[in-house]
Amino acid sequence: MGVDSVVLIGLSSVLVLVGLVVVQGGVHGGIPTTLDGPFKPVTVAVDDKFRGRAIDLPDTDARVQRNVNGFEPEQISVSLSSTYDSVWISWITGEFQIGDNIKPLDPKSVKSVVRYGKSRFSLSRKAVGYSLIYNQLYPFEGLKNYTSGIIHHVRLRGQKSGLKPDTIYYYRCGDPSIPATSKIYYFKTMPISSLRSYPKRIAVVGDLGLTYNTTSTISHLMSNYPDLILLVGDVTYANLYLTNGTGSDCYSCSFAQTPIHETYQPRWDYWGRFMEPLVSKVPIMVVEGNHEIELQAENSTFAAYSSRFAFPSEESRSSSTFYYSFNAGGIHFVMLGGYIDYNKTGDQFKWLERDLANVDRKITPWLVATWHPPWYNSYKAHYREAECMKVAMEELLYSYGVDIVFNGHVHAYERSNRVYNYTLDPCGAVYITVGDGGNREKMAITHADEPGNCPDPSTTPDNFMAGFCAYNFTSGPASGKFCWDQQPDFSAYRESSFGHGVLEVKNETHALWTWHRNQDMYNDAGDQIYIVRQPERCPVEPEVEGALVQDLEPEPVHGDRALACEDDENRVLAREEDKDDEEDERALDCEEDKDDEEDDGALAREEDKGDDEDD
Ligand SMILES: [Fe+2]
Repeated sequence: MGVDSVVLIGLSSVLVLVGLVVVQGGVHGGIPTTLDGPFKPVTVAVDDKFRGRAIDLPDTDARVQRNVNGFEPEQISVSLSSTYDSVWISWITGEFQIGDNIKPLDPKSVKSVVRYGKSRFSLSRKAVGYSLIYNQLYPFEGLKNYTSGIIHHVRLRGQKSGLKPDTIYYYRCGDPSIPATSKIYYFKTMPISSLRSYPKRIAVVGDLGLTYNTTSTISHLMSNYPDLILLVGDVTYANLYLTNGTGSDCYSCSFAQTPIHETYQPRWDYWGRFMEPLVSKVPIMVVEGNHEIELQAENSTFAAYSSRFAFPSEESRSSSTFYYSFNAGGIHFVMLGGYIDYNKTGDQFKWLERDLANVDRKITPWLVATWHPPWYNSYKAHYREAECMKVAMEELLYSYGVDIVFNGHVHAYERSNRVYNYTLDPCGAVYITVGDGGNREKMAITHADEPGNCPDPSTTPDNFMAGFCAYNFTSGPASGKFCWDQQPDFSAYRESSFGHGVLEVKNETHALWTWHRNQDMYNDAGDQIYIVRQPERCPVEPEVEGALVQDLEPEPVHGDRALACEDDENRVLAREEDKDDEEDERALDCEEDKDDEEDDGALAREEDKGDDEDD
């Protein structure tokens, strides 16, 4: 056989493989596509092997215990900035305190430094960020107060050149002057944004908590080697605990008599420690859920959520930790807040209009939106609870051709047919609920369309979201009723089981979505479908020309999150206290500053080995 024949056979094999994956409307390895839909609704009965009882990891579990000394970094995580050329590194130093007499740490006392580079032997670049602490205060008899360790956020980016796409970077974080630095970790940047480049696998998970089922979910998720993780709200379930550490599977049942909805903040530290092996390598992007509200003194909310995670808020011109956007290859992600103002007159809506108007679908053809409470949900749990948000925002998202929406909140899995305004629509989004990460609250198994299970409309609004917008349907099969009398036609597939999903965008029109159940082998698919875009058929911008288009302000040079917490007395940022400090003046822009006096011997030695690529 000649060389040409070998090449031809090889080429034809490649073509067959490609054909199995991406031929539009053709063979997809037996996997259905949305072009085959809308599908007749399917309900899969609860699996006998399903482990419904979710028990929290106790504070004695080795995976949640502090295993560093002094001010060495712990709870290390990576999150994305708005574009591939920048990421955030976050960590915590010092010990939290909980009790009657807590003394907050001084966030200025430990520096926020990351050394990084493309070789683990040459961490030749340097970035300095900011630090903060937050308090969770309960001025009530017998309740304990909490103050966090020092939380550090550092954005890696170069003044001259940013991070390279699709590239592994090694990093070490901490304060070299103590010295208290971490071991060396690594992460990989996202690919460049274009029609042809995408992260290979994006894991999507919601309502995680920290139970033995959570550990199973994360184990399955890690086995799929994601490049990025989306966490669609409800993170630790710390608010299922009293401040004395007593837990419950149902807060409202057990703790109804307490003067305020307490939380046990050490659960956040446990969660950060448990997740570190994963999220110190794989970027995680989080949006808030109702369990992050965590009301405390002076009506302060979301202190842990807004303090512990880094968000590309200012990079995406939102200045809020509750909504922001970012690109991952040819995908533009919009993260929205279901528990803050979402009305058309509010800041979030106006930001969303501007953000969507500035998405270039020739660069990021895929538009994916994420928020916590689902709009299309046929389970009894949280049925039509987010209807006011839907009324406010659905038309705007539809007008820009949002392709996929990910939600959590409902502790089960559900995938919709393409739908808009409760009507099947080939240009509507596919709505996917993955609130089945494994937390200690019960699995949702009851459907609103089963006899006797349609909730009383007056019970459906979420108190914190306020308002009532879910009236009887005015058209369609459920006309005149609050619930369908069979699985709604928008609901393509629903199943109650713990698990997670993986999104694999193949090209500008095809993305493979796979839902994995915890009781299955790692590679088994519980639900799988190709989500197919039809850009020639479905508009990607409002039909009224220019109606929503607004130019963005240029990105601020010194982007940090100070604006997001200026008026929150329970969070203390080192940068805010320290405005005249020279070190902080250059806090976010001193990468590649190789003459910095702070360099300790160890880091200096690493620089000495040289890394031409980083220069
Ligand atoms: Fe929730």
